[in-house]
Amino acid sequence: MNQSWDALKDHQAAVEGRPILDLFAEGGRAADFSATVDGMMLDYAKTNIDARGRALLLDLAEKAGVAEKRDAMFAGVKINETEGRAVLHTALRNMDKPLLVDGQDVTVALRETHARLRAFADDVLSGRFAGQGGKITDVVNIGIGGSDLGPAMAVLALAPFHDGPRCHFVSNVDGAHAADILRGLNPATTLVIVASKTFTTIETMTNAETVRAWMAREVAEPAAQFAAVSTSAEKTAAFGIPAERVFGFEDWVGGRYSMWGPIGLSLMLAIGPERFDDFLRGGAAMDAHFCSAPFAENLPVLLALVGIWHNQFCGYATRAVLPYDQRLSRLPAYLQQLEMESNGKRVAMDGSDLPYHSGPVVWGEPGTNGQHAFYQLIHQGTRVIPCEFLVAKRGHEPDLAHQHLLLVSNCLAQSEALLRGRSLAQATEIMAKKGLTGVELDRQARHRVFPGNRPSTTLAYDQLTPFVLGQIIALYEHRVFVEGVILGLNSYDQWGVELGKELALALQPVLEGKAGTEGKDGSTAQLAAWFRS
Ligand code: F6P
Repeated sequence: MNQSWDALKDHQAAVEGRPILDLFAEGGRAADFSATVDGMMLDYAKTNIDARGRALLLDLAEKAGVAEKRDAMFAGVKINETEGRAVLHTALRNMDKPLLVDGQDVTVALRETHARLRAFADDVLSGRFAGQGGKITDVVNIGIGGSDLGPAMAVLALAPFHDGPRCHFVSNVDGAHAADILRGLNPATTLVIVASKTFTTIETMTNAETVRAWMAREVAEPAAQFAAVSTSAEKTAAFGIPAERVFGFEDWVGGRYSMWGPIGLSLMLAIGPERFDDFLRGGAAMDAHFCSAPFAENLPVLLALVGIWHNQFCGYATRAVLPYDQRLSRLPAYLQQLEMESNGKRVAMDGSDLPYHSGPVVWGEPGTNGQHAFYQLIHQGTRVIPCEFLVAKRGHEPDLAHQHLLLVSNCLAQSEALLRGRSLAQATEIMAKKGLTGVELDRQARHRVFPGNRPSTTLAYDQLTPFVLGQIIALYEHRVFVEGVILGLNSYDQWGVELGKELALALQPVLEGKAGTEGKDGSTAQLAAWFRS
């Protein structure tokens, strides 16, 4: 492993600054540096990875034990060592094959819960389950982090497939969020889903109380319009939600990996159980590919290796996720949790300090909007930001096909511009044609230079359907896994969120004036005093 790491470092130093465009000179690069699966293509030709770099990266993945650890994960081995848990979100989309965990076939319970979810969704959609004012028109999902971002992102992504009630999402403890979502909703035809793995998360439990009080003002029995998704049956019962509307899952499904199961209930209600199953099938298809394709053709492995190359070897600290697909506008936020909560760790699995950087900062916005906002920095800023474009061959609006064409041409143009750039000579020629001369020509031309040679990948797919969304999400999940294995850290815990939670709890009585600021630093004490005054 160390040898592969050193060889890659040497290789990176040797090729640093080389024009990526030159790599295309030989021909065949585009086909060679791309891979396809089930109608989806990952093009990573616009990176500074050459045949030797790729061979070294593949070797790194092999030496890190990616294949063995992948097989261990799918087999239910407790690879989340700091919490002593298996990591089996993949079982939620592969329920037909028996899977033993601690001697028990866990798929039996998964199928049972899935059948209950489908039956409940059918009841809501048909009106057999109704609110106290009639058929359910709106669903409010209360959850945060993994209990919010996945379904919220997917409900937006799959808008053309909606035939159920409108779905809304309340996550922030800021009362403004609940207030804005509830305004205009009819409590008597609203179903509330309290989604929390632990059922202790302060934001979710506070919002659940708020929404229950809102409902109680209009409806005799608010609990009759509540459902819950959680691993804790006792806590959902204590909150007053009847067991028939509680959908459980196991602790081996991490929050940010949980949208495939009951946490996806709001999505199932929005698009219907059949299409939800298509989403699961897309995820399962990516699982099968991840488990069987040679690494050199394996999309999650390749995407991970590109990520490792850019972050750990080239030193690019962030990556931009740029979906040219308006309906994927929440994908960057979803991936922020998936990637940064998973691989934002400073120690290796054994507790030793990580000898290199952890996962990158992930951010982004949909194209073309981003082009009119932050692309300036991506093209001409002093830092290199690898970009990950996503784009569909077809949109869902046949009568607006000309707009889709514009969208795609913009997407392709951006990666081309990043690659190609514009030299000083080219910029000078353009400005000279406009009549500039001398010092002013030089000055103006310099502002119009694009350094180019900025790396990007493009993930192209046919159309954003439930199946394709399932493929995309599973692709990114496995990418995170592979990067985590190579970095030697635990992608499945999240201890880094705890300290802030503890301190917030301790600050509550200070802000209420029930406790003093002893022991607080001067800044925190001053801010607390300011809020109290
Ligand atoms: O605080 C982080 C976190 O634990 C996430 O990992 C999780 O997705 C989120 O909070 C919500 O947790 P829960 O589903 O238990 O409410």
